[in-house]
Amino acid sequence: MVRATMQTPQPDLPPETRAQLDQVFEWFNANVAKLEGAYRDLGVKFDNISQELEEKNQKLEASFRVTERVENQLRSVLESLDSSVVMIDTEERITLFNPSAERIYALKGADAMGKSYAQVFAAQADSHFPLIETLRKQKNLLGHEKYWKIGAGKPIGYTTCVVRNHEGQVLGAVEISTDLTNIKQLQNQMQHAKTLAALGEMSATVAHEIRNPLAGIGGFAGLLERDLEGDDPRRALVKKIVQGVSSLNKIVSNLLVYTRHMELNVQRVDFVNWMEDILNYAEVEIAKDNKEIAIARDYRFERMEARIDPEKLQQVFLNLIFNAIQAIEGKGKITIKADLDERDFLRVAVIDDGKGIPKDIQDKIFNPFFTTKEQGTGLGLAIVQRIVALHGGDMQVTSEAGETRFEIRLDSRGSVHG
Ligand SMILES: Nc1ncnc2c1ncn2[C@@H]1O[C@H](COP(=O)(O)OP(=O)(O)OP(=O)(O)O)[C@@H](O)[C@H]1O
Ligand SMILES: [Mg+2]
Repeated sequence: MVRATMQTPQPDLPPETRAQLDQVFEWFNANVAKLEGAYRDLGVKFDNISQELEEKNQKLEASFRVTERVENQLRSVLESLDSSVVMIDTEERITLFNPSAERIYALKGADAMGKSYAQVFAAQADSHFPLIETLRKQKNLLGHEKYWKIGAGKPIGYTTCVVRNHEGQVLGAVEISTDLTNIKQLQNQMQHAKTLAALGEMSATVAHEIRNPLAGIGGFAGLLERDLEGDDPRRALVKKIVQGVSSLNKIVSNLLVYTRHMELNVQRVDFVNWMEDILNYAEVEIAKDNKEIAIARDYRFERMEARIDPEKLQQVFLNLIFNAIQAIEGKGKITIKADLDERDFLRVAVIDDGKGIPKDIQDKIFNPFFTTKEQGTGLGLAIVQRIVALHGGDMQVTSEAGETRFEIRLDSRGSVHG
């Protein structure tokens, strides 16, 4: 550091000047010392400030990373959400349009972002925009429904709310919506199932009430027929009564089978023998109908011992085979294919080459009372389905003109083949 001193004595200076000079040097040195101190302080302060700056920088970086992470998280949430999220700012322009919104409204995010909400959604013919209403009236809407009219149309459930920052200032409004198509379908199915159950219960009561008087009518008509002479023209009329009673009887007993509480009586059955009895009976009926229908057997094993309820499954196969016979006009073939697979599942298919089941009714054929036949009760397949389900089995149908295949799979563990 600089220090001022008088190098050599200056004899020619007057003592007063010398004293003054000494004073100046002293003042100078004192100030230099002060400056030195201030400089040191400055150094320390500078060090402190740089340290503080470094710490602040680190904190800033950390908070930036947190913000970035939160932003990424938020973006992922919005992108993965199954619900659509659409936000508008105070100018009613779209500022958020997540991928589900693209899917639900069939609009591209790029075509919606930054645009006026009313313009983008103008195609939604009615002019009621809940999101705009929310923003203008500052009123949240919870759990409402609207109908999206574009394309096939779909019901949409939505909730809206006003978006505010932490100071309470309004930033816009957001709408969260979900496609309700599947939920509505399930609701309809449930309603349908409930109606069917109620109908089933009512039919059971009615069937029960009808059965006794019907038996009486049948019995008396039989007596009348017997008493009339062979050439009496009234015989034909009585025959009609007997036929009518027998068809009513079919409806009533089918109804009772369908609605009655059922319990399985499982036995070990020689499947091939058991099936042959059914087929022999069917062949007699085919002959009565004057149809030329051949029944082909395709059994994987000669002997298949299965654990089933023989009486109930007999109804199953009779229903399927009669449906097949009725589907064949005049001439055709029915194939019975049976197999015990490696897991001891008994698979039996009834295949016919009849007219097939039209595509538009394929999902209805198991509904009770669904029939396309004049004399049908529409309970045949409903009964089949019930008995198969009772056996813990399942059923598959495939049909096109010329080949209809009903395949039943029953858990028959403990079965033997050979
Ligand atoms: N093999 C088949 N080929 C073509 N259509 C079929 C076949 N099996 C069933 N269907 C269709 O499914 C409907 C319902 O069959 P389901 O056995 O339940 O009642 P149904 O045969 O009409 O009456 P019911 O069994 O009381 O005589 C039938 O009316 C028919 O349209
Ligand atoms: Mg039937």
